[in-house]
Amino acid sequence: MENNRPSWTSKYTFILAAIGSAVGLGNIWRFPYIMGQNGGAVFLLVYLLLIMTICFIPLFAELAMGKITKKECIGAFESVNPKFKIFGIMNPITGILISSFYFIVGGWIINYILLGFRNLKIANFSEYFVQLTQNSIPACTYTLLFLLICIILTARGIKKGIEFANNILMPLFAVIMIILIIFGLQLPNANLGLEYMFKPDFSKINPQMFLSALGQALFTLSIGMGALLTYGSYIKEDKNIMKSTYTIIFSDTLFALLAGIMIFPAIFSFGLEPNSGAGLVFVTLPHIFSQIPFGHIILAAFFILLFAAAVTSGISILEVPIASLSERLKISRAKAAYWVFLIVAAISIPATLSFGIMSEYKLLNRSIFDFLDFITSNVLMPLNAFFLCIIAGWFLKIRGTMFLKNKFLSNLFDIGLKYIVPFALILLLIIGLK
Ligand code: PFF
Repeated sequence: MENNRPSWTSKYTFILAAIGSAVGLGNIWRFPYIMGQNGGAVFLLVYLLLIMTICFIPLFAELAMGKITKKECIGAFESVNPKFKIFGIMNPITGILISSFYFIVGGWIINYILLGFRNLKIANFSEYFVQLTQNSIPACTYTLLFLLICIILTARGIKKGIEFANNILMPLFAVIMIILIIFGLQLPNANLGLEYMFKPDFSKINPQMFLSALGQALFTLSIGMGALLTYGSYIKEDKNIMKSTYTIIFSDTLFALLAGIMIFPAIFSFGLEPNSGAGLVFVTLPHIFSQIPFGHIILAAFFILLFAAAVTSGISILEVPIASLSERLKISRAKAAYWVFLIVAAISIPATLSFGIMSEYKLLNRSIFDFLDFITSNVLMPLNAFFLCIIAGWFLKIRGTMFLKNKFLSNLFDIGLKYIVPFALILLLIIGLK
């Protein structure tokens, strides 16, 4: 069975796909608005601290576990000890729950790309966005369309689907981003946006911010739902995954910062507030674009950028349940993709409707959409990352010496994996949930 598993064409395609998974809506949609809600630069500091300390280790452990076991998530955990199967199963379940809200945002993006091309004059983007999200049939159609695009690409397999999409979309993403940053930095008062991002106000620090930063860090790095484990399981040659870990973390952080540099100068230049929440890129930015010459082209370009980022991450999320289903049940990828499509559609439709006709339904006092976002980023991903560290450190016995030459660093890695990171993950979870 193992020999029949697909593998990456080259080291380059693996790292591109892993960066493609990490860099997504988390960087461009979620990061700026969560930073905006949590006081700007001080949140950035906490976030960077967590990325460099706590997140490095589980990211590495995921890649290592995939590479060592050469199995999809459930098989990977089961091969360490059959009793750990449940921790493996938690990964595709988390993936399905994430997809169920991720693809809704993907649907909005498609709508905004079309809006840019049609050059419609919208007087009030806040009303436009509310209508888009509340109008049941179009909203569900866009969600399903985005899901379908990602499912088809994922079903086509590693080379024809995942590598193909990343090879085209990631360079496109980078080019559009650079153009938009140059444009944004030339707006009047752009420096105010940069100050907001980089001048911390320490009075805004609070415990809840640490959980938000942790949830954001895990989400943006795709840690804690098996995407990198599954991608790692397709690594064929003797690849240095320590180097891959640095590269993924560095690129993801760079793109999150660049997204901030692309967005905040424009917001401050127009005297707007950065704390408008999830609507930041769907209301505030389009409002700005509508006031500048050729704004509709910039609007389309910005949402094509978001689309590229969302698709490359979306396929990595779907790859987890698709790989698990097809390898466990020994069915074709196409059949597995079909089942995953149905399951994700069944959850994402009520989540889409939670902006409109199902807004009354609350789970833990949140709308279905907000509940899915909260439960995955702030609860399931930290929990999965916790079990991953415990199992990788104590049972699979991954050790720093396997990958690091420096003795001090490799000892530090071992202590981090077995004690510090699991403890920190649980502590932050408890503080945040209180
Ligand atoms: N990292 C992606 C983003 O920042 O948008 C989201 C994501 C992808 C989360 C894959 C989890 C995952 F497994």
